[in-house]
Amino acid sequence: MNAPDSKGVEAIIWQNDCLELLDQRILPEQETYLVYETAEAVADAIRDMVVRGAPAIGITAAYGVVLAARACFARDSFMWKESIKKSIKVLAESRPTAVNLFWALDRMEKRIKLLADDLDPEQSLLKEAIQIHESDLAANRTMGEFGADIIAASQDDGRGVMTHCNTGSLATGGMGTALGVIRTAYKKGIIDHVYADETRPWFQGSRLTAWELMKDDIPVSLNVEGAAAHIMKTHDISWVIVGADRITANGDVANKIGTYSLAVLAMHHGVRFMVVAPSSTIDMALESGEDIPIEERGADEVVSVKGQQLAPEGVEVINPVFDVTPADLIDVIVTEKGVVERPNREKMELLMSNDRLH
Ligand code: MRU
Repeated sequence: MNAPDSKGVEAIIWQNDCLELLDQRILPEQETYLVYETAEAVADAIRDMVVRGAPAIGITAAYGVVLAARACFARDSFMWKESIKKSIKVLAESRPTAVNLFWALDRMEKRIKLLADDLDPEQSLLKEAIQIHESDLAANRTMGEFGADIIAASQDDGRGVMTHCNTGSLATGGMGTALGVIRTAYKKGIIDHVYADETRPWFQGSRLTAWELMKDDIPVSLNVEGAAAHIMKTHDISWVIVGADRITANGDVANKIGTYSLAVLAMHHGVRFMVVAPSSTIDMALESGEDIPIEERGADEVVSVKGQQLAPEGVEVINPVFDVTPADLIDVIVTEKGVVERPNREKMELLMSNDRLH
């Protein structure tokens, strides 16, 4: 299990009957794994960003349910199905925007319903969690191929691409969503340079994406978000390629704060805009992006970096950590089920009904 697709970066490992998470808060300076034995501690790890990125959050929560099942069954082998509900609720409350969390918990709950009331559920639930993990890895590979083909087919101008946040091995069960497409396209010689937004305030772009790409020897330049328009105007960028935390029925996309700005800039500069996400990120229950709960995090993330205060004490802060890019700014959504060009409700429904659009 857990064969990495890029050089050695594994965010989530099930080992020795425990969950191990690479602590992403201290990357790239330190590569430290933390060991988790309870669902409640796993929920804290998700909330505190030890692990982050929509698919990785879902996979982690699934393993969290395995730990919860072990504890609940040990406490009361007849009432475990009742008591595990509380732990699942705690996991569900860890972060609000990435729908993969709720999708994974839903799958685990469906599996729980099928289990006998008085038999040890651990191995069966572990099998389900591993399946969630492995299918994300497989989805990454498929999306990588689909996305690279689209870039190859469209490439009349530049061979550079811009990306935002971190969508790589650290954010998924495999080589990544947007970063999976970038890895595949680079390997095939379709692109030759990546421009990575640093991604304030948590610096996923500089601390994680630049690190992953450099480990893979993929040429990357790091830029502050404010430089994106200038770079699009002055460099050979053909595509902006990003991941997603939730895609609604009409094709609107919630992703890391700053994604919407990039989509507007891309439109102005004639740069194409690609969203790469597994179908577990698609929430057909929500009509549009207006319905997506947008997480707001603490002021500390904005006013300070590594404990160093950068703003006047007491300044008012607004810190939404996701935004919604409207479907009409998106050229293509790439999933493992197929691709949707110029997304709208009809095309999203067709995709989710399993028909291949590619
Ligand atoms: O706050 P984060 O780091 O969890 O946000 C992550 C993102 O916004 C990613 O772009 C998204 O989850 C896609 S990751 C494959």
